[in-house]
Amino acid sequence: MSSNLESLARQVAESGRIEGLSDKHFIDGRFIARGNESLECYDPGTGKPFAQFAAGGKAEIEEAVEAAKVAFAKVWSKVVPAERGRILQKTAALIREKADYLTVVESLDSGKTLSEAKGDIANAARTFEYYAGAADKLQGDSFPISGDLLAYTVPEPMGVTAHIIPWNYPLAMLARGVAPALAAGCTIVAKPAEQTPMTALLMAGILQEAGLPDGVFNVVTGTGEEAGAPLAAHKDVAHITFTGSVETGGKVMQAAARNITQVTLELGGKSPAVVLADCDMENAINNVAGSIYKNAGQICSAGSRLVIERSIHDEFVDKLSRRAAQLRLGHGLRDPDVGPVNSQEQLGKVKGYLEDAKARGVETRAGGAVTADPETGLGWFVEPTIFDNLDSKDRLVQEEVFGPVLAVQVIDSLDEAIEVANDTEYGLVAGVFTKDSAKARRLAGALDAGQIFVNQWFSVGIEVPFGGNKKSGIGREKGMEGLRAYCKIKAVGERF
Ligand code: NAI
Ligand code: MG
Repeated sequence: MSSNLESLARQVAESGRIEGLSDKHFIDGRFIARGNESLECYDPGTGKPFAQFAAGGKAEIEEAVEAAKVAFAKVWSKVVPAERGRILQKTAALIREKADYLTVVESLDSGKTLSEAKGDIANAARTFEYYAGAADKLQGDSFPISGDLLAYTVPEPMGVTAHIIPWNYPLAMLARGVAPALAAGCTIVAKPAEQTPMTALLMAGILQEAGLPDGVFNVVTGTGEEAGAPLAAHKDVAHITFTGSVETGGKVMQAAARNITQVTLELGGKSPAVVLADCDMENAINNVAGSIYKNAGQICSAGSRLVIERSIHDEFVDKLSRRAAQLRLGHGLRDPDVGPVNSQEQLGKVKGYLEDAKARGVETRAGGAVTADPETGLGWFVEPTIFDNLDSKDRLVQEEVFGPVLAVQVIDSLDEAIEVANDTEYGLVAGVFTKDSAKARRLAGALDAGQIFVNQWFSVGIEVPFGGNKKSGIGREKGMEGLRAYCKIKAVGERF
């Protein structure tokens, strides 16, 4: 880690404050204040507020959508794809130039460790770079019909797109939707999560500096109900990209349905790591631990279930439990192994699951309680937890806890592994750990998930499509699939 980053992080950790943040909305190329109240932005590592931001509502959403609508019609849809690509390329370069500052802001706002925040910023830059290169490679097809009839398709930008962002990966999730939307020629109204609004506002400045015309990218901050709901219900929004809970995703889809607005929904999961007796145990332990304790378990694609063959269960879970107990918790800016959870509300939700498990006498192999930063006694922390020998019907197996909490299920055969792994309402990702490539391929085929990890977890880049089956969502982001989501295909049939 660069010494610049470390000294900035130390400075911010000591003072508890950071310069350069905005408490305004960004609409039509300007940071603007509106008369409404402010909301507090909290540092999850201490539980104390460190900044304020604007509580936007229907009026600001109206203004932002109007700006995006005008910018789409008059400016952005007329900018040639190669030029759109150049602006995105410049955006990637600026993110990299400002990476230390963005990293510290993201860590402070979300609670995530400095190393993870650094990874997120690099990921956001890479996302803009990828779609910069893709902007002028969006092509249509031509079709053989008959000698005097030419049929061809043209991918056209959808128009104004709404981006409702979650708090677990604030900048990375924003980039995942915004970069392809801009590449396709769409304009944007982004509504960051009320827990983590800061890097979206910083992105507004960066995109402007990169040369993005006014009105193409707008940010309205505020709560889901006050700002998110009117955005989802807006008749001039052509596409909504939403990442968050199933419950809210359903509300967004209902609002969209009234206007026949297209949606991409990414709604989390309860993803199984299927570990077979013939796996490379050390590799599997590393990956399973990483899959559930990274970002304190607040990851849509976390490996929150371990589905393991009985013959290695005891040894594996013993070793994994020791690993969990050794993880250092602390304020994200000190770059520990595991940071706090994102909000007091999320802490309460996870605590509810832990207390319920205790009351029911669930076998606890590691952790099992909420805690605080060992250095300060502050903040919203959860011990890395393992609950063992769970039945498929257990709520710890079925429900997304969204914390560092692993549910273990024991299986006796490959068929049972498939049945157990698929037995939830979710289907985002699934992992397979085995040295037998025939078994790996069979599982990859049989597991009902949008993305399968074999002998690794998370290690696929922006190039690869990502999204969920069943209640995990609708549509795919990332890769060229992610770009096509922001296009409507026009077919032309021409007789000559
Ligand atoms: P949420 O789904 O309510 O929030 C996500 C985003 O939606 C935020 O920007 C929020 O302001 C916005 N929103 C909320 N209500 C809205 C509405 N009616 N219309 C439009 N936008 C709205 O998630 P929340 O309450 O913050 O977290 C609850 C649970 O959701 C977590 O415990 C976790 O299980 C899950 N979650 C999953 C994520 C994922 O990556 N799939 C990310 C965040 C949360
Ligand atoms: Mg915050």
